[in-house]
Amino acid sequence: DKAGYKHFMAKEIAEQPTVLQGALAHYINHDGTAITLPEPGLDFAKIERFSMVACGTAFYACLVAKYWFEQLAGIPVEVDVASEFRYREPPVTPGTVALFVSQSGETADTLAALRYMEGKAAKIVSVVNVPESSIARESDLPLPILAGTEIGVASTKAFTCQLTTLAILALQAAQARGRITDAELADKLANLRALPGVLNLALAVESKASELSRKLAEARDILFLGRGAMYPLALEGALKLKEISYIHAEAYASGELKHGPIALVDKHVPVIVMAPRDALFDKTVSNMQEVMARGGKVLLITDQKGAAEAGDGVWNTILMPEIDPFLAPILYAVPAQLLAYHTAIAKGTDVDQPRNLAKSVTVE
Ligand code: F6R
Repeated sequence: DKAGYKHFMAKEIAEQPTVLQGALAHYINHDGTAITLPEPGLDFAKIERFSMVACGTAFYACLVAKYWFEQLAGIPVEVDVASEFRYREPPVTPGTVALFVSQSGETADTLAALRYMEGKAAKIVSVVNVPESSIARESDLPLPILAGTEIGVASTKAFTCQLTTLAILALQAAQARGRITDAELADKLANLRALPGVLNLALAVESKASELSRKLAEARDILFLGRGAMYPLALEGALKLKEISYIHAEAYASGELKHGPIALVDKHVPVIVMAPRDALFDKTVSNMQEVMARGGKVLLITDQKGAAEAGDGVWNTILMPEIDPFLAPILYAVPAQLLAYHTAIAKGTDVDQPRNLAKSVTVE
């Protein structure tokens, strides 16, 4: 049931504040002071590293989580796409905790990677949407993301719920390892609990996204740039766009631009820069200037402060609410989804059932 929306994807994008609220209520106690993960949980003090494995959008959620686990909890993280991991057969040290992320819980490569880790990793954790799925059943600690049924082939609400669950896990790890004070934790939890409201504000950029998408729909190639934890968001934006609009889109870490992809930039190539005003913002501005100097059309997704500091010359700006940089990757998923959705609408492609794609990839 599309609940009055034209597509499941539109409904699932719009539903994000509500489902996120449910996920937060599941993992944070009612007065917002403590994280409540299922018992027996993880012995975070003993974890030497996380080995995270997933495919597609779930893989990008892992790439974001790597920044969180490393920066907040000081735990080294390796991230692999499942199809590479399973055949590489990497050595696994006993202090490794394996962490699989999958919306369906049935992705063949991810499940095979999980089975490879059985008996090798200290523990197998999964972050899944379908609680009765194979991946959930075969894990020591399955963590539901509580996104509800996702029907649109392009993953939207599952991504933001995966990120939210992983953010909570990273905070718990930081707390258990004594890397965060009680006051800092309370602050982060309060910001998390405010997230549904902030996401609601972000959904208001839909009309602007739709207007810009009519222009994006004319492009043959589109580049996405981001730094730090926004780099995986750039990857997600490019994946979403190519899946449903069939426009060739690629993402790069902003600092990689001058190592090759800048050769592609001319006035026909829109460059979408995902950059909240954070500690790395100045560096991203200089990357943007390199693009603009070559005639590239920059669409900057940032907040009020970022827009003010970016100065003149950008083609267009999408304004996001200001947010704790830790949570920016969750918020910035919304404009990425809306741009992909409306570009596909402008092109007249089948949003919910894009060609050649299946919702659940149960064969390799
Ligand atoms: C992208 C998308 C796919 C899936 C990938 C993994 O919009 O939906 O890239 O993320 O096939 O699927 P799950 O999460 O079910 O393992």
